[in-house]
Amino acid sequence: MTTLTYRFAATLSGTWKPGDEIVVSRLDHDANVRPWVQAAARAGATVRWAEVDLPAGELPAEQYERLLGDRTRLVAVSAASNVLGTRPDVAAISALAHRAGALVYVDGVHAAAHGPVDMAALGADFYATSAYKWSGPHVGAVVADPALLADLLPDKLASSPDEVPERFETGTAAFADLAGVAAAVEHLAALDDEATGTRRERLLASMAAAESHELELFATLRDGLASIPAVTTYGAAAHRTATAYFTVAGHTPREVAEHLAGHRINVWNGHNYAWELTAALGIRDAGSAVRAGLVHYNDAEDVERLLTALERL
Ligand SMILES: Cc1ncc(COP(=O)(O)O)c(C=O)c1O
Repeated sequence: MTTLTYRFAATLSGTWKPGDEIVVSRLDHDANVRPWVQAAARAGATVRWAEVDLPAGELPAEQYERLLGDRTRLVAVSAASNVLGTRPDVAAISALAHRAGALVYVDGVHAAAHGPVDMAALGADFYATSAYKWSGPHVGAVVADPALLADLLPDKLASSPDEVPERFETGTAAFADLAGVAAAVEHLAALDDEATGTRRERLLASMAAAESHELELFATLRDGLASIPAVTTYGAAAHRTATAYFTVAGHTPREVAEHLAGHRINVWNGHNYAWELTAALGIRDAGSAVRAGLVHYNDAEDVERLLTALERL
């Protein structure tokens, strides 16, 4: 996804002029920030920042009304934060962006792993995802209307195809990995064994079932974390993924992750590339926090084991 976003930033910014504007957010993974910021610097375009409402961790959509103007060319925003789990109101943000004549590039890397995706409802012109986040191999994808892609001219070899989407590919595709992507989609579509219909219908049903399963478990995790006095959690968005981000008083995030690993619980510590957000939270220099994410294969016993291991610490 990072590589593709750099490719789209280089391509889209080719038409940006000094005085044009883009809007990025402090909620986003840096892969949906820095490629745009660096492309804007090269084009002489101005970067405007959407701020996160802390400590709730929401990205208020209303602020886009003042961030957008008739010079705005692009809005880059996340469908879900990979640390706080916040799902911003992308539909509202896109509606405002489109009214201003801007394109919307949505980072769906975290979101796509945790629920059904409806690009049209989000109003995304581009939707980026990475198959390794949803049981597949490490293949990134940017999904967009072929008519929109046909207007874009990425740097490419003279000999490579001009057609869309092939004009965006470099060299020979990773065919073995692509076969793995299809297998991962099949796997996800089969999670809900009662789902019927086309693969897309089964996929949507399965991901909706996965999302409600995860959020039910998350309620227990959230309440359990809140009941441990030494634990501080970050983010309390109403619309979210089942992703907890927390610190434990008296222990660095790294120590907490190592302690949990000793209990055979896999979490991640650090900024997780949520570079601007962890700085805004004031925790980046101290090792940021610990992320515990729930997915479809987790169960109540996993949550209980995590809470018990933290209580012991
Ligand atoms: C929200 C989000 N965006 C972007 C990325 C980058 O994806 P990739 O590793 O495919 O470049 C990640 C990876 O962790 C992510 O979580």
